[in-house]
Amino acid sequence: MTKFKEIKANTYEDMSNEAATIIFDALKESKQFSLGLATGSTPEGMYDALAKKINEANLDLSELTTFNLDEYVGLDESNDQSYHYFMEQHFFSKLDIPQENIHILDGVAEDLQKEVEDYEALIDEVGIDIQVLGIGRNGHIAFNEPGTDFNSLTHKVQLTDETIEDNSRFFESIDDVPTEAVSMGLQTIMKAKTIILLISGDNKKNARDLFISGEVTEDIPVSILHNHDNVILITDSAARGE
Ligand code: PGA
Repeated sequence: MTKFKEIKANTYEDMSNEAATIIFDALKESKQFSLGLATGSTPEGMYDALAKKINEANLDLSELTTFNLDEYVGLDESNDQSYHYFMEQHFFSKLDIPQENIHILDGVAEDLQKEVEDYEALIDEVGIDIQVLGIGRNGHIAFNEPGTDFNSLTHKVQLTDETIEDNSRFFESIDDVPTEAVSMGLQTIMKAKTIILLISGDNKKNARDLFISGEVTEDIPVSILHNHDNVILITDSAARGE
């Protein structure tokens, strides 16, 4: 039985605004809030819209905590392809969130095993109220590729060729794309109270079809969300093939 709710937006901007509004309203309600964040092209518009709303309303973010989904192994925050860099550029630099409340996995940590375990423990301690997700063409969420254990916690992953190819558009050459990442696991993502899944563009139509087919299998990582009670899918018309 499908439990998720789908908001059928028209354009990419509409999708971004829908997501920004849900998060903004939640932030207004509760000063102490924990937000799970995603990188990639899909949420860029949402970050713009959300930062604008927050600044216009002069919202106090002193008790906001954030957790990002993932980071490449081997890229530090000064690397313009790192997710640290992306988040700073698209969101954090526009807002006043206490630095110590911002959590992103450290892809250059000396002990990656300790890094992922500490991250998971912190998420267990703080919790995540809303987690934003994009999706890969193959149905991956964060860096959880097809075949990832539904019970996975934050872990180190090997990127698939498809993901390396998709992400190569941001790098000078495909050889520059890291082959490993650290990522929240599927079980970690399921710990969030509410999940907002954004799907945009005709190249993601297949990913939406995979999700709404309702089949629950580790071959389709996003399908785990059918086991969650509070999923809001927000699509634009291109992702729906309209
Ligand atoms: P995209 O990536 O938003 O850049 O398409 C999403 C993902 O691969 O998870």
